[in-house]
Amino acid sequence: MKKTFIVANWKSNKTIPQAEEWFRTFNSLQLTINKEEKEVIICPSFTLLPFVKESIVKSQLSIVVGAQNISSFDEGAYTGEINGKQIREFADYVLIGHSERRKKFSESEEMINLKISKAFEYDLTPIVCVSSLKQAKFLQEFKGNAQRIVAYEPLFAIGSGTADTPENANQMAGNIKDILGEIPVLYGGSVTSKNVKEFTQMPNINGVLIGGASLDAKEFYAIVQNA
Ligand code: PGA
Repeated sequence: MKKTFIVANWKSNKTIPQAEEWFRTFNSLQLTINKEEKEVIICPSFTLLPFVKESIVKSQLSIVVGAQNISSFDEGAYTGEINGKQIREFADYVLIGHSERRKKFSESEEMINLKISKAFEYDLTPIVCVSSLKQAKFLQEFKGNAQRIVAYEPLFAIGSGTADTPENANQMAGNIKDILGEIPVLYGGSVTSKNVKEFTQMPNINGVLIGGASLDAKEFYAIVQNA
């Protein structure tokens, strides 16, 4: 049976009280997650990493933590950067190369590859977002045996309410595996509790990356259940 990855990307949202509320609601729903079947990952802002980690441990939730970005440098004189060693204190995963970072923060393919190598150095599993096969071909640092994940996120589908078709997403996931080998490939872009299963049941798709819909605890609970 293939394992399904369900990744929540909270983006630049939530204060500590708002995250507290999210966990209160999520815990009240008493979801049981079978770790053999589903890997649930929450990627909050850096300011929330300690709180989210602590909440998960306290409530004994079968959820792990991811960061949304990583410095391409190690510790040192890099004002405003959060490095892999710091992230590793709280997280097991890290999102790299999200289209918002590529576009709004001018992240180049070279920088993305540097960040991937930093993730490996600090034993973090990179979840690298690509919106095209051309971007997938640039992931030179992705070869080898370390655990690594790609998320296919077509630009038109991100935050638009219009997801890609499951058939096309499946085709793209297959093409990405042809380029990068048999690694988990997720689909992201307007995933909700209503359409999640259409994607996770596809043979080449190993899970989903969720933005907007993950901000609501009840909706995220339904997504995890339905995936
Ligand atoms: P969305 O975002 O689920 O709000 O479309 C997905 C993403 O940007 O990762």
